[in-house]
Amino acid sequence: MSKDNSKISISVIKRLPRYYRFLGELKSNGIERISSNSLAQMMNLTASQIRQDLNCFGGFGHQGYGYNVAVLHSKIGVILGVDSKLKTILIGAGHLGNAIARHLDFEKKGCVLEAIFDIDENLMGKNICSIPIYNVAYLQEYCEKNKPVVAVLCIPKEAAQSLVDSLVSAGIRAFWNFSHYDLRCDYQENVVVENVHLGDSLLTLTYRANNEI
Ligand code: NAI
Repeated sequence: MSKDNSKISISVIKRLPRYYRFLGELKSNGIERISSNSLAQMMNLTASQIRQDLNCFGGFGHQGYGYNVAVLHSKIGVILGVDSKLKTILIGAGHLGNAIARHLDFEKKGCVLEAIFDIDENLMGKNICSIPIYNVAYLQEYCEKNKPVVAVLCIPKEAAQSLVDSLVSAGIRAFWNFSHYDLRCDYQENVVVENVHLGDSLLTLTYRANNEI
């Protein structure tokens, strides 16, 4: 990785997880090397787009050989930080919070889900896949002791903004936000936000289905 990653555009970064996933599949299917043309075909991109993207990090390909799948997979994993083990908490142990806590493989994505918080007294003392659910009143104290850096928000949007303010002051600097409230990405220096709206993806599909594109 010869170049300064802070200068990489966010659109390139957003494509990396997809490269990582496709290369992971190729690797588990025993494929050792792949040309940028074949990878482009699989991923519905152009070979020049792939070369351009990977050149942002110093290349990795060899003329006439293509890419070594395992090496490229591992290097993209390092760039993405899949081994970062970022301490993570989840707020809102309802339907969505449950599904995310149960089915997302946090550890393979660089995060370790360590605690879940909710306001519902009936959930206190329970757990989801061995991860304890605590009262949200304990959040500040928990953050002081354990210093999590990532928060997954699965709470109603009305609850999101005030909670985010206190989470930022408690040291959280990355939000994976499902709350149907678009947290501003420039919220505060060093705080990053990924707002996720499954409905936006569905609406895109609706448009494409209606317009056959
Ligand atoms: P839910 O009602 O099953 O769960 C919400 C949970 O949040 C409850 O357990 C509730 O006690 C807890 N909660 C509420 N206020 C809180 C607070 N201040 N602190 C801590 N916990 C609090 O709702 P569900 O279905 O899990 O949805 C959660 C949110 O996610 C909703 O706002 C929903 O609109 C949104 N959503 C977003 C999607 C997306 O693609 N972004 C997809 C589906 C739902």
